[in-house]
Amino acid sequence: MKWQHIHFDCLDSTNKTAWDYEPGTVITANLQQRGRGRYGRAWESYLGNLFMSFVLPDLGRIDQYISFMTAVALADALDAFDVRIKWPNDILLNQGKVAGILLEKTDKNYMVVGIGVNVVQAPIDGMLYQTASLNGKISADRLRDKIIQSFDKWLTILRTDGFSVIRERWLEKAQGIGLPVQVRLPNETKTGIFKEISPQGELVLETPAKTVQYITAGDVFFIG
Ligand code: BTN
Repeated sequence: MKWQHIHFDCLDSTNKTAWDYEPGTVITANLQQRGRGRYGRAWESYLGNLFMSFVLPDLGRIDQYISFMTAVALADALDAFDVRIKWPNDILLNQGKVAGILLEKTDKNYMVVGIGVNVVQAPIDGMLYQTASLNGKISADRLRDKIIQSFDKWLTILRTDGFSVIRERWLEKAQGIGLPVQVRLPNETKTGIFKEISPQGELVLETPAKTVQYITAGDVFFIG
């Protein structure tokens, strides 16, 4: 896909702005004043960090794999760092969250794929997770170019080969396969061993009673 890149100095949220653009656009900004995180959380947006959003057309049945594809693309763009992917699509560095992904479906049925990377600074207080930053070892501009390239490459792979190749790469980069985890869902918490991800991308959890559960959404915490 040919990407048209539009850069802003300051805006509320690159995801919000991206809603007004057509597929094939990448919105970036130096600063966000109301960065959005998953589950309606805020995304702390410091100057020098990276904020970008891709606008994708409706891709039909592969829509459900975009989050895994984006995590793989992001992990590859960060190949100079020893990053891991935490299900479904957080990027970890030294166990701390260094990047997050937020998908939104627009009123025109486009998909906005928002990526935030803590390039120079990570939020410190009151976070659900441990956080991390790249300590400025790469510039936001250079990283942005690498991500656009990698995103485009992995999107093409998803469109031509389907989810299986993405899934393999995702599993290679995954954090915590075979380890005990706690998965927090809106109304309950499940505990078990994180076995793998299913061919649909669900987290496969083996419970203490040795039953297997397939989880489609939730926050994962490594325990023990
Ligand atoms: C998460 O909670 O893990 C997702 C965070 C996504 C943050 C990025 S920053 C660029 C884009 N614009 C936003 O408002 N959010 C995403």
